[in-house]
Amino acid sequence: MRPAKQIQIADKARSELMAVARQLSSREKEQLGHLLPAFASKARSLAEHWDFAAPSRIVDQLLTDPCAFPDSPDIERLRRVVVARLALDHFEVEDRLPSSIVALYPKFFDRLVTFLSTRACYSYPHEYYSKDVRYALGLTVPCGTHQLDLRNRVGPKLILRDVIASRSVNSALAYAACRGWGRWYANHLDLRAMKEFNSDGWTASFVRMAEALKLNPDVRGVAGVSWFHDPRVRDISPHLGYIQTPTSFGAFLANMGSAPHHIANATVRSSTRQKLYEEGKYSPTCYLLAWPRNALIAWAERLKDDPSATFRNSRLASRTRFDPVQASPPTAIQAMRR
Ligand SMILES: CC(C)(COP(=O)(O)OP(=O)(O)OC[C@H]1O[C@@H](n2cnc3c(N)ncnc32)[C@H](O)[C@@H]1OP(=O)(O)O)[C@@H](O)C(=O)NCCC(=O)NCCS
Repeated sequence: MRPAKQIQIADKARSELMAVARQLSSREKEQLGHLLPAFASKARSLAEHWDFAAPSRIVDQLLTDPCAFPDSPDIERLRRVVVARLALDHFEVEDRLPSSIVALYPKFFDRLVTFLSTRACYSYPHEYYSKDVRYALGLTVPCGTHQLDLRNRVGPKLILRDVIASRSVNSALAYAACRGWGRWYANHLDLRAMKEFNSDGWTASFVRMAEALKLNPDVRGVAGVSWFHDPRVRDISPHLGYIQTPTSFGAFLANMGSAPHHIANATVRSSTRQKLYEEGKYSPTCYLLAWPRNALIAWAERLKDDPSATFRNSRLASRTRFDPVQASPPTAIQAMRR
């Protein structure tokens, strides 16, 4: 079954989205009615662009066009309206999704509409707006702790840069072995949905991704970019050590260097990392963590019988003598198996 048919917006969320979508004048309504379909399809065509915010920038071109909206200085209101309109009229997920992801949608739409009709009325940060445009179009789908972009690439240039920086061909070999020049899924976070940011949440999220990969054989794997993939983070912040788990199950890393926003993200929540950074003992560095499809699917299969394969901090676990026979699977996984 095509996902568009599988995913229905529940009546309550639909009527709340319609209430948000109606917050515009009759002239604005007429303009959006004429122009939004073309801009929505342009935005969809940019799903794969390296700039995550490219689809929302296209929509903003419309909203800030003085010919289309001469009397509308209230751009944030129009952004809320457009996100609601896109979700109601232009939502289309092109991939087949497993039931474990489809099941996340009712809560996901509830969260989106609650955000649009409450917090976003005071301020709609660009980071959230660009994510919401993607969600509303179905370009990015919920996956628990992680959100998943369905169209992404891991370009050979990234790998080449890593080979030069690390003076190792490991990433290039892994990339060639998985024929990584095709389509990838990209995983990332949404700070509005962080309740499951822990080892169980990561495990459950990646199990869902493995199920999605099984249904979409052309996708090469799942790749994410962050400062917390940096192997050094495991030493500085041992409670985040579980994030390296995929590297024990066939994932590979590629150094992507450092930019001011990576440094800000790495240090904003942690006084330890901030202090080490200020002392010159830690330089936040961004890494791509790419988990090729066969390895990720094999990990998810193994997890069914081997709880020790779960995301976990192997150093802490070995200190506490982790016993896979005694250990029960994480709650989230047990719930998913039911
Ligand atoms: C990514 C992020 C959500 C991880 O949060 P986290 O799981 O709480 O882990 P952090 O190491 O960042 O935690 C921050 C502080 O809370 C403490 N902490 C984390 N979990 C804890 C726990 N269970 N009990 C007690 N303290 C805890 C940590 O010790 C740390 O302080 P310290 O390093 O000075 O000791 C968080 O760092 C963040 O919001 N960063 C900014 C946004 C970002 O990076 N986004 C991703 C972009 S790719």
